[in-house]
Amino acid sequence: MKKLNVLILGGGGREHAIAWKLNQSEWMGGLFVAPGNGGTGFIATNLDIRETDFPAVKSAVIENAIDLIIVGPEAPLVKGVREFIESDVETENVRIVGPGRRGAQLEGSKAFSKEFMVKHGIPTAKYGQFTAKEIDKAKAFLHTMKPPYVLKADGLAGGKGVLILEDIVSAKAGLDEMLGGKFGAAGEVVVIEEFLDGIELSSFVLTDGKSHINLPSAKDYKRIGEGDTGLNTGGMGSISPVPFADDEFLQRVDERIVKPTIEGLKKDGIDYNGFLFIGLMNVGGDPFVIEYNVRMGDPETESIMPRIESDFLEVLWKCGGGELEGSTISISTQAVASLMMVSGGYPESYEKGKEIFGLTSITEALIFHAGTKMIYPSIETSGGRVLTVTSYGDSIKAALDTSYREANKISFDKMYYRKDLGFDLKS
Ligand code: AMP
Ligand code: GLY
Repeated sequence: MKKLNVLILGGGGREHAIAWKLNQSEWMGGLFVAPGNGGTGFIATNLDIRETDFPAVKSAVIENAIDLIIVGPEAPLVKGVREFIESDVETENVRIVGPGRRGAQLEGSKAFSKEFMVKHGIPTAKYGQFTAKEIDKAKAFLHTMKPPYVLKADGLAGGKGVLILEDIVSAKAGLDEMLGGKFGAAGEVVVIEEFLDGIELSSFVLTDGKSHINLPSAKDYKRIGEGDTGLNTGGMGSISPVPFADDEFLQRVDERIVKPTIEGLKKDGIDYNGFLFIGLMNVGGDPFVIEYNVRMGDPETESIMPRIESDFLEVLWKCGGGELEGSTISISTQAVASLMMVSGGYPESYEKGKEIFGLTSITEALIFHAGTKMIYPSIETSGGRVLTVTSYGDSIKAALDTSYREANKISFDKMYYRKDLGFDLKS
């Protein structure tokens, strides 16, 4: 194998963690991140390019002789970055980890993903889908369901497109809001589904459409407040592995969900190459799919990358080339926990441009930057989710203890983080 020039698209903690991991590879040539953040700037070359600005991405690929593109977030995938790069003679041989537009519909459209699951016999909640014109039918459908009621806007809604409502009156009001344009184009179609009562976790898969590798399981903490209360966020922290996902359960996930999903994509003529992040509900030991994402999770990636012991660049290179068959990865038996430090006010409005103190005194944890910017010689906040404090431990609790100890050394104006990660894991 030759040295590889790699471009990672995205600028969050996920992309910093992937860059950190790939940088350990003996095959790493030049590493570029577009747009990157204050952390990736230390270990890679940041390119001042939006990840959905495809002409600029293509120019950067040519200019830097990029061999491999890793796509972090969903937006460039849904918009067709793969097709854009592959359809140009100058870049057609560049390998890409990230599905094309059709595969990305698994995340881009809830209705598409539900139809896909039903068609291929993949366990998921029962559902109906309705347009604004069908609002009366949708309300009648609600009456056939039991509370709580789950309403989902069809399109990408930045993690805010799901309403779970306790009674029929608020469910109907929610439906009126969704189909009435509250979510813009994303809400033109609404999926109403059965509520699944169980424990939530995520499964991560890397596939070239033929073979697959199961990555470590992880769980994130979505709510802003302690005890899983308050508004939903992109994620306030994560742990890996997930203690309640034992080998038997993961085996069921592989047999009943991962394999039929990859087979289904093949049958439907969808060339899928990239990550698949499956949101699952464990209902009495049986896995059901809540949603597909066509990328890695953030902040799950921050806890998954440190547990991969193998040369992950080699694995991604093979995946991008459709040569994943026979590849395996070894996973550390250590647990990893990532604590997200956020700007006060997040996920609603918050201030940016706050200097971050204490980063150089971190000795026992990894820091993955998310919303940070280098304003030389300082690092300042530039987003709601600012950085993760990521630690190893012999147990989740030990890893969390280290992250909390190290987090004490970091400060910025109006900093906030949850003090109770792992609360739900104690017996
Ligand atoms: P999604 O954006 O589809 O992941 O949904 C956001 C959150 O809503 C999930 O993480 C679950 O906690 C919850 N959720 C979604 N669908 C269901 C369901 N059918 N039953 C119970 N909870 C659900
Ligand atoms: N942490 C959830 C996500 O990346 O969608």
